[in-house]
Amino acid sequence: MQAQLDAIVSDARRVLDGVQTIAELEQSKAQFVGKTGSLTDQMKQLGKLPPEEKPKAGALINAAKQQVEAIIAERKDAILARELESKLAAEALDVTLPGRARGRGGLHPISLAQERIEQLFHSMGFSVADGPEIETDYFNFTALNTPEKHPARSMQDTFYIEGSKHVLRTQTSPVQIRYMQSHQPPIRIICPGRVYRCDHDATHSPMFHQIEGLWVDEGISLADLKGTVTQFLRGFFEREDINIRFRPSYFPFVEPGVEIDMEWSRGVGNSGNEIKWLEIAGAGVVHPQVLRNGGIDPEKYSGFAFGMGLDRLAMLRYGVNDLRLFFENDVRFLRQFA
Ligand code: PHE
Repeated sequence: MQAQLDAIVSDARRVLDGVQTIAELEQSKAQFVGKTGSLTDQMKQLGKLPPEEKPKAGALINAAKQQVEAIIAERKDAILARELESKLAAEALDVTLPGRARGRGGLHPISLAQERIEQLFHSMGFSVADGPEIETDYFNFTALNTPEKHPARSMQDTFYIEGSKHVLRTQTSPVQIRYMQSHQPPIRIICPGRVYRCDHDATHSPMFHQIEGLWVDEGISLADLKGTVTQFLRGFFEREDINIRFRPSYFPFVEPGVEIDMEWSRGVGNSGNEIKWLEIAGAGVVHPQVLRNGGIDPEKYSGFAFGMGLDRLAMLRYGVNDLRLFFENDVRFLRQFA
């Protein structure tokens, strides 16, 4: 009997040493200690022995069983330890590696220019006003002295909205009327925003940006316009040598009306010494009828208004030579401003 038990134990050692996983172990151990296992068999034989031999044989079988169970436990520990080790190795974390920086966005150059412009006008006592981009015909034209059928309407290729009294605003000037109707002088505002015209080529986009300016108070004149715009441009371009000139022009809502040119002698886009004049705004003294439409007494107050091209200013400031770059949203372009 001892020999048989020894054989079972060494058999168990051989078989169990070969198993690699807990599942295999569970399966293999059944051969020895399971319901039909070889040790269980020995137990069953016990009943057939004469009573005086039973205690001794029982003790031998138990000893063998303990040995087999020890082998199983030992093997199980080894497998678990190995599994843990390989899991730790797979999930290893090198805490000494440098961290990964998060990708950062940045402001669009038009927004950067706009913020800069707002700051400069803030410093001159202007606040920022806003108005809708889908505007009524009344605010976009009529109240600005441009009634229906007025030839000046054809100066702007307008997106009309079919069957409606609305247009996509062609200019930021309607904000003048909206603001005057709810405020009395002194009024000092700028209004940056999107405007729309049916134009599309290298220098025109159907959507572009303007900045309206309006200053209404007692005794405001073209001299104030000149001082304000010059001061602004010098701040915006950080150059003291910027001068402007007025060219007579026509807009129905100002009288007199001018176009403002900026002197651009050296710098981005102009390396020579030749003086260039760049058009940057339409402007003028607010027409008395427009003040009236805004609920302001033209006998007491006067003012100036201007409409500047924001995209143009941003192009000059950042040295961008094609307007379309602003609207294509190519990250290689935008990243340069972030
Ligand atoms: N709104 C005019 C335009 O878009 C510009 C302008 C604004 C002219 C204010 C005079 C006064 O052409």
